[in-house]
Amino acid sequence: MSAELPDASAAAVEEAAVQAALEDGLAAVAAAADLEELKSARLAHAGDRSPLALANRAIGTLPGPEKAAAGKRVGSARGRLNQALAARTEVLQAEAAERVLHEEVVDVTVPARRVEPGGRHPLPLLMDRVADVFTAMGWEVAEGPEVEAEWFNFDALNFDVDHPARQMQDTFFVADAAGGGDSGLVLRTHTSPVQARSLLTRGVPLYVVCPGKVFRTDELDATHTPVFHQLEGIAIDEGLTMANLKGTLDHFARAMFGDAVETRWRPAYFPFTEPSAELDLRFSLGRDAERGWIEWGGCGMVNPNVLRACGIDPERYQGFAFGMGIERTLMFRNGVTDMRDMVEGDVRFSRAFGVEDLSSSGVADVVGAVPADVAGGSL
Ligand code: DAH
Repeated sequence: MSAELPDASAAAVEEAAVQAALEDGLAAVAAAADLEELKSARLAHAGDRSPLALANRAIGTLPGPEKAAAGKRVGSARGRLNQALAARTEVLQAEAAERVLHEEVVDVTVPARRVEPGGRHPLPLLMDRVADVFTAMGWEVAEGPEVEAEWFNFDALNFDVDHPARQMQDTFFVADAAGGGDSGLVLRTHTSPVQARSLLTRGVPLYVVCPGKVFRTDELDATHTPVFHQLEGIAIDEGLTMANLKGTLDHFARAMFGDAVETRWRPAYFPFTEPSAELDLRFSLGRDAERGWIEWGGCGMVNPNVLRACGIDPERYQGFAFGMGIERTLMFRNGVTDMRDMVEGDVRFSRAFGVEDLSSSGVADVVGAVPADVAGGSL
């Protein structure tokens, strides 16, 4: 490398030349706007090929008496230039650091552009949770069609052809293809037809729940909707009694509403159960305490005629069934007071339910201990 360096010439150490080289150097250092430019200035004015470096090398070629003065001149010029370089480096580094602080600043207050999370509707969410309560006891989950044969909706369930319940239920009848005639189909008025469907397709012993949509010709208001949801349950086995029914529904009630819930049974009539009861709930604590008893659903021991309609021997197999309103359950459980909130589909309503903290709500852990008096399936 040094072999290629320009020849040191005596002229380079002349006072005027050294002064000019120093001034050029200082000007270049002062003009450097950033560290990159300063680097070029350093190379040009203090590097190996710079005039001052040449002057430095030329000192050696001078006659002895001139060396000292020339050395002092060149040395002081190089010293001043190096000082200027160091000072400018400091300034430019500080500027660069400052710039980074500004350019890379993150404004944490700028509203983030994000995709709003949706929320599962609380009704299917609750139906899943209900299904969990029963699958934890070894029950199965069944489904049935929403457009149902009248036979399953009524006849198989021991409703006579002119049983008043067929009108009482205010059924949506489905017209036949030609329009108008009797198709034999209805929008199911309850989930109970799944009782007969499950008996026919799954046989006995049977432990099945069916959460699903049902239809009646009600107007939409705060407490009614023409489309709502029920949970049907049916258990058929040898030797099941009403004690099993009570144990099962009491466990279900606690799993839904916590240990503070009380249950009460009132005699009732349904064609497909005998005896039949309506199950009421009461909450002795908190904001619901004054509400007193509220009806939750119907239940009873499965009428032998239903078993016979499905080819099951009622002398050998018995069991129970129940049907609860899912909307009512959501109302009692989560303090929803207006049915219309459930059908409007406003995500702000739904979202609140996805973040429910079960651990602090007093609601029993659904896969927790199952009392001995419940009727269990295969688990
Ligand atoms: N299906 C009845 C209704 O919609 C409710 C019901 C009552 C279901 C008694 C049952 C039961 O399984 O045993 O009003």
